[in-house]
Amino acid sequence: MNNKVMQFIIILIILLNRKVDTFQKWTYDDQKAWSIDNKECSDHYQSPININPNDLILNDSLKIEFHNYNQPSSNYRVTNHGHSVQFDYIGDSIMVPMITGSALNGKEFALQQFHFHWGLEPKFGSEHRIDDHIYPIEMHLVHYNHDEYQSFSQALQSRNENVAVLAIFFDIQNKNNPDFDVISEKIQHLQTTHTNYSIDLQDRLILQFLLPKNIRNFYRYHGSFTTPPCTTNVTWLVMNQPNEIGFIQYEKFKNVIDHKSGKPIGNNYRQLQQLNGRKIECSFQHHQQQQNNNNNNGDHSNKSISMIIILVLSIIDLLAFLTLSKFYMFK
Ligand SMILES: *[C@@H]1O[C@H](CO)[C@@H](O)[C@H](O)[C@H]1NC(C)=O
Ligand SMILES: *[C@@H]1O[C@H](CO)[C@@H](O)[C@H](O)[C@H]1NC(C)=O
Ligand SMILES: *[C@@H]1O[C@H](CO)[C@@H](O)[C@H](O)[C@H]1NC(C)=O
Repeated sequence: MNNKVMQFIIILIILLNRKVDTFQKWTYDDQKAWSIDNKECSDHYQSPININPNDLILNDSLKIEFHNYNQPSSNYRVTNHGHSVQFDYIGDSIMVPMITGSALNGKEFALQQFHFHWGLEPKFGSEHRIDDHIYPIEMHLVHYNHDEYQSFSQALQSRNENVAVLAIFFDIQNKNNPDFDVISEKIQHLQTTHTNYSIDLQDRLILQFLLPKNIRNFYRYHGSFTTPPCTTNVTWLVMNQPNEIGFIQYEKFKNVIDHKSGKPIGNNYRQLQQLNGRKIECSFQHHQQQQNNNNNNGDHSNKSISMIIILVLSIIDLLAFLTLSKFYMFK
């Protein structure tokens, strides 16, 4: 009898473990399988998307205001959770970094966590694309409606645009970005640690320095989380201008290992999703701006051509004048 109970318990434990195992087993290699366990992953309005200039609607009243982004803070817990390296905000709610403004319909959204998506080669990495352009790194700052909800999980359940993700691209340059050192040092610490191993940040981080210089130019659209369970009703704010980090700092990302598979985590980006009739709002004149640039370039080359024609005509005139004057003078 005792043996049977033991057997039952052992089988139960094995089954439960298997359940947990299959649940955690989503991979970037087999993204089609995501929707088997997570129905929302096959919903209509998913992320990421390619931001095609033809799908843009200008809304120049869109603004994002940043609060406490300029406050140095070490209140982050950093975790290698096997799919990315995540920095959870663990400080008090008074100093919590927040975004608000018309882009968030005036509500205050508090930072929950930020994490990164990156390529094992610089030509891949970002989840979103701007006019088919891929960046090597994309950072996601996940916020929730702090005005109406006590916690991130409550806001998530409400399904009413109460979660907002701010996306920032990074390009790679030769010179290191000193503002990024606090982050790349922690990423180095977590390169080979076991799944869910966490450390506290200790050094102080100023989030504002991670933003691009131009924070007025961005896109807004409605989408989802880019990892299972692909929760929908998320407001996406995608910055147009990238920030930059050094090549050595980028290399630290490339060496982060998923403890379970023993393989590098990189190339942790989801495939592009269909827009399915959604509109993408743009806080600035995207299309026009590009056309103007082209026109300006055109103007420049037209001017050069005109100058050359005028010069050639002047020379012909001069030669004609000299020939004629010779002709008349020696007559
Ligand atoms: C622009 O954004 C504001 C703030 O969300 C919104 O109220 C307004 O309807 C938008 N305008 C257009 C043209 O979509
Ligand atoms: C969530 O988004 C879906 C479209 O993806 C929409 O049909 C639904 O009304 C939204 N729910 C809420 C509560 O906003
Ligand atoms: C890691 O943490 C997440 C979130 O707390 C949890 O769902 C998951 O089971 C953990 N994974 C492992 C391998 O401990």
